[in-house]
Amino acid sequence: MGPVEAAAGGEAPAAEAPAAVLLDPVAALAELAPLGADPVRGGWSRHLFDDADREMRAWFVRTARSLGLDVEVDRNANQWATWRAGGAAAPAVATGSHLDSVPGGGPLDGPLGVVSGLAAVARLQAEGHRPDRPIRVANFAEEEGARFGVPCLGSQLLAGDLTAERVRALTDTAGATAADVLAGAGIDPARIGPDPDRLADLALYLELHVEQGRQLAPLGHPVGLATSILAHGRWRVTLTGRGDHAGATELDSRHDPMLVAAAAIRSARDRAVAAEPGTRSRATVGKLHAVPGGSNAIASEVTLWLDARAEHDADVRALVAAIIGDVEAASAAEGCGVVVVEESFSTRVEFDADLTDRVAAALAPRLGDVPRIPTGAGHDAGILAAHLPAAMLFVRNPDGVSHSPHEGASDQDIRAGVDALADALRALTSGGAA
Ligand code: GLV
Ligand code: MN
Ligand code: MN
Repeated sequence: MGPVEAAAGGEAPAAEAPAAVLLDPVAALAELAPLGADPVRGGWSRHLFDDADREMRAWFVRTARSLGLDVEVDRNANQWATWRAGGAAAPAVATGSHLDSVPGGGPLDGPLGVVSGLAAVARLQAEGHRPDRPIRVANFAEEEGARFGVPCLGSQLLAGDLTAERVRALTDTAGATAADVLAGAGIDPARIGPDPDRLADLALYLELHVEQGRQLAPLGHPVGLATSILAHGRWRVTLTGRGDHAGATELDSRHDPMLVAAAAIRSARDRAVAAEPGTRSRATVGKLHAVPGGSNAIASEVTLWLDARAEHDADVRALVAAIIGDVEAASAAEGCGVVVVEESFSTRVEFDADLTDRVAAALAPRLGDVPRIPTGAGHDAGILAAHLPAAMLFVRNPDGVSHSPHEGASDQDIRAGVDALADALRALTSGGAA
């Protein structure tokens, strides 16, 4: 596997922190609250190797070391913390999530899973559990894709789902390449890419995540298990027109790409509504950039990002084809140009039924029959599911809101999530279970 120097990846030198804070995940999350708090958008903005992400990564190193875990950064910028506890050198039972965020996101999407993984280890250590194989906690890099546009960047590189050439050439909004950003953080861009040895050293992956959507509250359960993830993708749509004066240009001589953008946004909603109800189709334009961006100028170019999801891959393809058809028609009517680039496509995911059953059995004494729910959100567990047994635990989100500062879970449910994860990890590392 070739351990990488623990301090690589731009982390500050680790100072010792009391492991005791991890015995209460709510206290551990409170430690993270000041990091990356966004005074402009609200919520938290933590993007690959920006100052906030580096602080989060330093917290991971410091906190994992305070538990006596071995900390590594892999060649794709993912962090791993391993508790060996004298167990056999068998493939690890892995858990974790991500510490990056969407722009102005909530406090739990990502950090809850990492904190809960470390807290569950602290809990098992405190009770004297001796795992029969290593337990490994992951912080996957750039899960949201907020800096370079491609979600689950670290796990997709690890799994060989993206080519290293493509990733090296990705650019952020300031024009910095992923190659330069990785190099600046101590990750050799020449070495990013598939890491089959590291993958083979994982027996399974169990990710805990805040629920996104509101399914558990009506069911009255603090914790759920995942069944599947919708197929989803992102498309960058660049619309070109002719920049001109907002007052002097006659209406019949305009080539206004903003008008085409409006048609795209309307089409995204209308086409998703018109799709078969069983396809669970949804399409969103959440980001738009106008050039030159003057309030008294017709834009010369507008770029928008289309996020489309549905039950099956073919449903997403059909939805996007219909929307792009509408955009092309609107563009032709306005005399504008359209270029569409697929930034990512993630196929539908079914989580491992056998692993999910085993986790359900481990949870039953404390939680009874735990509900099993599908999700519309993407996760590193979904990437890994194509390569090893993967499952997910969700912690009830009372309003269902996520990718927003209003995301939340009660302290009681956060603690119930750690109890559940500890129960699962204990069962999966006892008596040759994994
Ligand atoms: C990530 O959370 C996504 O589903 O976009
Ligand atoms: Mn997210
Ligand atoms: Mn997430």
